[in-house]
Amino acid sequence: MSPAPLIERYRERLSLEPGDPVVTLNEGSTPLVEAPRLSERLGVRAYLKFEGANPTGSFKDRGMTVAVSRAKGRGAEAVICASTGNTAASAAAYAARAGLRGAVIVPEGKIAIGKLAQALMHGARVVALQGNFDDALRIVRELAHKHPIELVNSVNPHRIEGQKTAAFEVIEELGGAPGALAIPVGNAGNVTAYWRGFQEAGTAPILYGFQAEGAAPLVHGEPVASPETVASAIRIGNPARWEEAMAAFTASRGRVAAVSDEQILDAYRWLAAGEGVFCEPASAASVAGLLAHGLPTVEDSEPPESVVCVLTGHGLKDPDTALSKAPAVINCENDLSAVEQAVFE
Ligand code: F0G
Repeated sequence: MSPAPLIERYRERLSLEPGDPVVTLNEGSTPLVEAPRLSERLGVRAYLKFEGANPTGSFKDRGMTVAVSRAKGRGAEAVICASTGNTAASAAAYAARAGLRGAVIVPEGKIAIGKLAQALMHGARVVALQGNFDDALRIVRELAHKHPIELVNSVNPHRIEGQKTAAFEVIEELGGAPGALAIPVGNAGNVTAYWRGFQEAGTAPILYGFQAEGAAPLVHGEPVASPETVASAIRIGNPARWEEAMAAFTASRGRVAAVSDEQILDAYRWLAAGEGVFCEPASAASVAGLLAHGLPTVEDSEPPESVVCVLTGHGLKDPDTALSKAPAVINCENDLSAVEQAVFE
């Protein structure tokens, strides 16, 4: 039996109305995987929260099940979002499931191919904008204001409500909160959601947020007009949940820092080959950040004894980046000794 849908597990802690339908694909209950080699490198017990195991391959499904259930409950007929890819895939899937129309606005040429395939296959109207994510978000906010269409970006409060359940799961599985949590930061919805979840459970792990160097507005303290990074999921210059995310870093005694594309790609390959966990490049920013910066603590506080790294999306989302960074395939003749040579040499 698959685990209960997230809304069934946590309904009383979520924001749904009593009559709302449950639009679900059995999201949540994702693996918390021990990471022995990462633990060794960091000198602290490390775990990977593998959100790539959600139905559409990213953490967005946690928020989407709640946001789309609420949208359906209040009689919406369509949903819309701006996206660097994963929100689009998830919104399209849950809209299909709910029998709603879906429209997604993505930055042209800047989303991973698997995410594009998902959004199209689920029947959403996919609009490729000649602009970046921040432009797309500004436009969909205006459209949702003008038309009777539900905005399902993480500016939608129900998205945050659903995503906070990942913190509940971590606490349940470890028998308490970890000492620290490392997380990639783009539009800053997910870090906001984890902090809310931990706080509601009466805990306060240290939060380490990581942005890509070329898309690090929170680190620089000002919006980035033309964000650039290989981690296309977090290519965002003006996060919508800016203040809440910064408040969470401060309250948790944590911090937000930047990692280079090279550090992200190194961690991405190393996790796949060294821990057997294939996440997408943006997700690897959480591990890259810890490897690059360690686990800094404020004065007078003990270093954390355990850390959970949130791996936000599945590696199969972005086969282009994987293949461009992976070792070459070995071509071989149809012959035993040729294969023997290819395998053993
Ligand atoms: N990791 C992945 C794989 C993502 O897709 C995103 C965001 C993030 C991390 C950052 O999360 O925005 O809550 O800080 N993706 C959004 C999208 C923007 O459109 O799919 P955040």
